[in-house]
Amino acid sequence: MQEHPQSTITDDAEALLERFEAIYRDSDGDPARIPWAHAKPCPWLVSWLNAEAPSLVRAGARTAVVGCGLGNDAALLAERGYEVTAFDICPAAIDLARARFPQHADCFLQADLRDLPIKLHHRFELVVEIHTLQALPPNCRPPLARGMASLLSHRGILVAIARARDEAVPPDSVSGPPFPIAPRELMSTMREAGLAPLRQPDDFLDDNNPPVRRIRALFHRADAPCPD
Ligand SMILES: C[S@@+](CC[C@H](N)C(=O)[O-])C[C@H]1O[C@@H](n2cnc3c(N)ncnc32)[C@H](O)[C@@H]1O
Repeated sequence: MQEHPQSTITDDAEALLERFEAIYRDSDGDPARIPWAHAKPCPWLVSWLNAEAPSLVRAGARTAVVGCGLGNDAALLAERGYEVTAFDICPAAIDLARARFPQHADCFLQADLRDLPIKLHHRFELVVEIHTLQALPPNCRPPLARGMASLLSHRGILVAIARARDEAVPPDSVSGPPFPIAPRELMSTMREAGLAPLRQPDDFLDDNNPPVRRIRALFHRADAPCPD
């Protein structure tokens, strides 16, 4: 793999994050003006919550939603009885999430996955990652993945949902955001962050026209037993 000097990695990430903040700030709270926002919970989170989560995560589990954006997934989880903490690096996203879901305003906080407060470490039985890793290019992802891993309690589970890239497509040939993630790349990024897959990931085409390839993967801490 090509080497990236640290300053380049940081510059890439910071420039993109400034763009995200400006988009949230200039949206006037209108999700239609935010290219990645759908103003509804992620359908592949919903189907997982309905079908698989009840056998893996206890009712009311402490849950972190990383890169929560406008807050739809966090609000859904809170409405289903999970104890939710949802954060985003962009202050403007957090302001919008609180304004959109005033009944859950206390769930939302501004925080950077790359430098999380100690009080959040190892606190969560469920961590939900939707489209945060893919928002940044591959060379910026390892610290994000380490942040996600640091949130997990000993037997916690991370669910990660992303656009998938074909393995044959070189990462540097994709111009984003989004920067789709090849399944093997997702596995190795998470493994290097100290996580292990819970099962084979779901790898599927969605119902967009044309269809978009997606991956939904579950991880647990590699130093913990696989949850029952
Ligand atoms: C593509 S958006 C997805 C937002 C939301 N999860 C959704 O599905 O609508 C990616 C989000 O990740 C956030 N993000 C990127 N880097 C982050 C970091 N280091 N810490 C916390 N949030 C981050 C961005 O600000 C942005 O809101």
